Amino acid sequence: MTDGLRKGLTAYGDAGFSLFLRKAFIKAAGYSDDALDRPIVGITNTYSDYNPCHGNVPQILEAVKRGVMLSGAMPFVFPTISIAESFAHPTSMYLRNLMAMETEEMIRAQPMDAVVVIGGCDKTLPAQIMAAVSADLPTVVIPVGPMVVGHHKGEVLGACTDCRRLWAKYRAGEMDDSEIEAVNGRLAPSVGTCMVMGTASTMACITEALGLSLPMSATIPAPHAERFRSAEASGRVAAELAKAKGPKPSELLTPAAFKNAQVVLQAIGGSTNGLVHLTAIAGRTPHKIDLDAFDRIGHEVPVLVDLKPSGEHYMEHFHHAGGVPKLMKQLGDLIDLDCRSITGQSLREIVAAAEDVPGQDVIRARDDAIKPEGGLAVLRGNLAPRGAVIKHSAASPKLLQHTGRAVVFESVEDMTRRVDDPDLDVSADDVLVLRNAGPKGAPGMPEAGYLPIPKKLARGGTKDMVRISDARMSGTAFGTIVLHITPESAVGGPLALVQTGDMIRLDVERRSIDLLVDQSELDRRRAALKPATTPDWAERGYAHLFHETILQADDGCDFDFMRRKGKG
Ligand code: FES
Ligand code: MG
Repeated sequence: MTDGLRKGLTAYGDAGFSLFLRKAFIKAAGYSDDALDRPIVGITNTYSDYNPCHGNVPQILEAVKRGVMLSGAMPFVFPTISIAESFAHPTSMYLRNLMAMETEEMIRAQPMDAVVVIGGCDKTLPAQIMAAVSADLPTVVIPVGPMVVGHHKGEVLGACTDCRRLWAKYRAGEMDDSEIEAVNGRLAPSVGTCMVMGTASTMACITEALGLSLPMSATIPAPHAERFRSAEASGRVAAELAKAKGPKPSELLTPAAFKNAQVVLQAIGGSTNGLVHLTAIAGRTPHKIDLDAFDRIGHEVPVLVDLKPSGEHYMEHFHHAGGVPKLMKQLGDLIDLDCRSITGQSLREIVAAAEDVPGQDVIRARDDAIKPEGGLAVLRGNLAPRGAVIKHSAASPKLLQHTGRAVVFESVEDMTRRVDDPDLDVSADDVLVLRNAGPKGAPGMPEAGYLPIPKKLARGGTKDMVRISDARMSGTAFGTIVLHITPESAVGGPLALVQTGDMIRLDVERRSIDLLVDQSELDRRRAALKPATTPDWAERGYAHLFHETILQADDGCDFDFMRRKGKG
């Protein structure tokens, strides 16, 4: 006898009557007593017409339900909100915590013995995992999987690294209107998530490394039959977790598991956003992602996966080369193989079963790494006392040590208005500075950190410049771009003090980012700053909650009251 519908009974009178009522109502949907007297697996439905990345969710749901029933449990699908990168205003990040809160409460509110959460498009996987970790029911995570690649004039391409690259070509006048239109129909040729190592792929790989999803589930292309077989198997695992009452996320997410996730994040040349989301997930547990420890991991861990934007290939090639199990095998002693997975296996067993694919060149050996160090570095200095991040694997090596003159944009709107102005006083050696684009200031830390190269410089052949901000950047972008400067300017971080003409020094080797202005002058500028007031947009509703409680990037941009009790 399992908990099933009995779980969480609150008395409408006595417990017996509560169950009687509950059964009477669910039977309205045609269920028999035999169907109901079983362990129950809740499944989140994150389908939305606005979210083509989740376009295969209906088929995934069918497969999960099949797997749950084949293992003798009962599936119940329930909706949660869905967030798509391209359609979420003002930013998808603004909504991530809303989705996490909503999903957590629906897991708590409804009777279930285990839960399957389905996510993929950048914010949905972290939101669903944050929810599941806080609710702490036995959980299986299913990423929806990457799109298949596109083709254009014999070239393989994909969203959205090539979106940016080809748009830059168009801006520079190297591609005409009809060709860019053709490209527009080829960059995202199927449902599924962006198929480069952007945030969606990064989070899927991290999830697998944490042991929260099935082996290989990060990389199976969204439209493939294998994706649905994996979903069916996930349903079976969820049913077994429901019967065994575990393991729960709190049993799997050990410090060693979080270390493994950070090693994988570095080795895949993962998205800078992955660090923010992993920090938020850890914030829901007794553990913590320490930026300096993460940077040290980066010194030891080479980039082994040859995927855009750091390398050449796409997610489906990573999959056919052996996926995350093969990567963890190549990482050897950098991974703690005693960590466990929802399947009941240790990572040692998972890695032992990794496929060897002769001749593959996507997942490299450690002595044949793409980059000798990990993809991400943490910078500090008088501009970023609580840290900043750079994806140096996707930057121009010659700019990693650079001192240049600041050209400051006050906000995303200011940048949009002026960056292409032919009269803008800017040269290729300058440092473009964007502020008021952080978690609170924008709001929601938009992916505006990838400032466009001013048109007049792009036309003259400039491909990259040092760009710094308190914003985020798409994981699919390439450039020498310093992000997540913390504290952000809107809460009085030193970024608020920079003026056009100041000199800024970036030294990635020394992990530093500094404003070369005397302290006395900085003090004078600070004294002249206007005190922060509540902006109009934050006067009511979710916006108010967001504005009042959003944490900085080094705390994962969670809401202060959503973190585990007792934290900071
Ligand atoms: Fe959804 Fe890229 S837009 S994953
Ligand atoms: Mg993205």
